[in-house]
Amino acid sequence: MKFKISSIIFFTFLIFSSCEQQKDKIINKAITNRIMDSHTLSNYKEVTITNSHLNLKVDFENKILVGSVKHDFTRHKNSDVLILDSKYLIIDSIQDGENNHLDYQLGKLDELLGTSIQIKLLKKTNQVIIYYKTTEKSEALDWLQPNQTAGKTFPFMYTQGQSIFTRSWIPIQDSPGIRITYSAKIKTPENMMAVMSAANPQEIVEGNTYQFEMKQPIPPYLIALAVGNLGFKAIDYRTGVYAEPSMLDKCANELVDMGKMVDSAEKLYGNYDWDRYDVIVLPPSFPFGGMENPRLTFATPTIIAGDQSLVSLIAHELAHSWSGNLVTNATWNDFWLNEGFTVYFERRIMESLYGRDYSEMLALLGFQDLQEEISTLEPDMQLLKLNMLGKHPDDAMTDVAYEKGYFFLRMLEENIGREKMDFFLKNYFSDHKFETIVTKDFLAYLNKNLLIDIDDSLNIEQWIFEPGIPKNCPKVVSKRFENAELLVKEFIKNGSVSLKNNVESWSTHEWLHFIKHLPENINLEQLSDLDQNYNLSNSGNSEILAVWFLQCIKTNYQPAFENLEKFLLRIGRRKFLQPLYLELSKNNDHKLWAQKVYDKARNNYHYVSFNTIDKILN
Ligand code: BES
Ligand code: ZN
Repeated sequence: MKFKISSIIFFTFLIFSSCEQQKDKIINKAITNRIMDSHTLSNYKEVTITNSHLNLKVDFENKILVGSVKHDFTRHKNSDVLILDSKYLIIDSIQDGENNHLDYQLGKLDELLGTSIQIKLLKKTNQVIIYYKTTEKSEALDWLQPNQTAGKTFPFMYTQGQSIFTRSWIPIQDSPGIRITYSAKIKTPENMMAVMSAANPQEIVEGNTYQFEMKQPIPPYLIALAVGNLGFKAIDYRTGVYAEPSMLDKCANELVDMGKMVDSAEKLYGNYDWDRYDVIVLPPSFPFGGMENPRLTFATPTIIAGDQSLVSLIAHELAHSWSGNLVTNATWNDFWLNEGFTVYFERRIMESLYGRDYSEMLALLGFQDLQEEISTLEPDMQLLKLNMLGKHPDDAMTDVAYEKGYFFLRMLEENIGREKMDFFLKNYFSDHKFETIVTKDFLAYLNKNLLIDIDDSLNIEQWIFEPGIPKNCPKVVSKRFENAELLVKEFIKNGSVSLKNNVESWSTHEWLHFIKHLPENINLEQLSDLDQNYNLSNSGNSEILAVWFLQCIKTNYQPAFENLEKFLLRIGRRKFLQPLYLELSKNNDHKLWAQKVYDKARNNYHYVSFNTIDKILN
């Protein structure tokens, strides 16, 4: 605590130092922001890590990472202490670059933020090496048994850094307010490949040691590692897919448009600054749909539907290469700057590849999710600019950041015109590249560059700082969805015969809209009629399964429960699990059933997911 207060006081007197190198400039820019990240215990504004080198062995037997991390840092005054974040790590020893032993102290464990490591620095040294290992409790890490993988022969592990989990596998200044370059040496068991958010191998190497380098500075939450029996398949000259060998062809077929997505993104908002863009399709326990780890998006296998119907997720993670990875929210209160911009960008990519009709379906589904979610959120969580002090930053992952953020930008587009909007966004990315930004600075930039001569009729302040959805929110109209709504009515009147000839051309999204709009009082015969004719309980499409099962729970349609159980046992994606367990917990019999399933399933989930479900089923 003492260090934190002193860092704030210190900061007031911060003097800008002139730097020769571009990287130093970037780092300085990042730390000159007056607003502190409240989710780090580190003194990142006094002493700032600029580069890290990891040297780790992946020990599957003990399910730990063991080794060291070396940090280079810059001192902004004569600070003689470096404070790092850590959580559930075992620190063995700390040295400086000349092998001098350094004294350090561990703070008290804070359940949310972890344990600070306060390292007493010697004069002159600007490098520390920390020898450490992770533990069973390290929240970022998921260790899978062979039977949890597609190939069933090798174990698998991956990390999830966002938002504040990197500190549970690397002792570091774990704030999105800093940027570092990194390199790594990772030792794996035989026949396993390591990949990172960095320049990656494309084959399993003999000797089992992999070297990595990430030359562009990134915030620590984007450091990522996955290790498994992996193969690689190219899509085009700069894009490709990593997956377990038995999945590789299927994944590459599904993601065949990836190269075109990068081309279209570049046309919209400027050069792709990260060289390659690859995707790794992980085992089904991965708790998110996707994670934008730079150069290597981590993705759930539940997007591999066989018909490319869920690839907007790739457009989303790719878009983060600009919004989020190039221009980064400086604190988790500004999370909407990452996600709202990314959803806007994602839909522009989807529009350019698959047409406006298609992207409008996505926008309308997004709007409905927003309305639904807002009705359940406290007013203080309905703001774009949040105050997450004392809360877990992951709780900011609501449709407010994503969809209210999207509709805010779309509102600007519709009022100001697409041409000006695109010009503005392209400049926003290039003017802030490799920097971090807070909402206040974005608003100043917006006023100066886009809202010149525009009076306050756009309710900008209301959008950002007030709850609810402002009146000038754009309206989305989708003919294809209107048609699906008509068919809901037909179906309720005449049963599934009325769907014949009408639904053959339906995309996944029309099915989703249809299922979500079934009336609350739908009866068992009607559900069974749908299930028998369209085999919904056996759908190969995870999004359809998730909304269908939700309906089945509400109506207590028992024939679907066997497949629901299989789904809950296999898939660890929180977005699917949370609403299903929540719905199950509303009814006593269902809750008992859910608890039994969860007893078996919990082990298959990543911390992010089981932490959420634990709270639902207490
Ligand atoms: N960066 C997020 C995932 C995330 C957010 C992880 C907050 C931890 C904390 C990622 O880009 C994302 O938004 N994923 C979505 C998919 C997307 C298509 C909306 C997901 O996983 O559902
Ligand atoms: Zn995202």
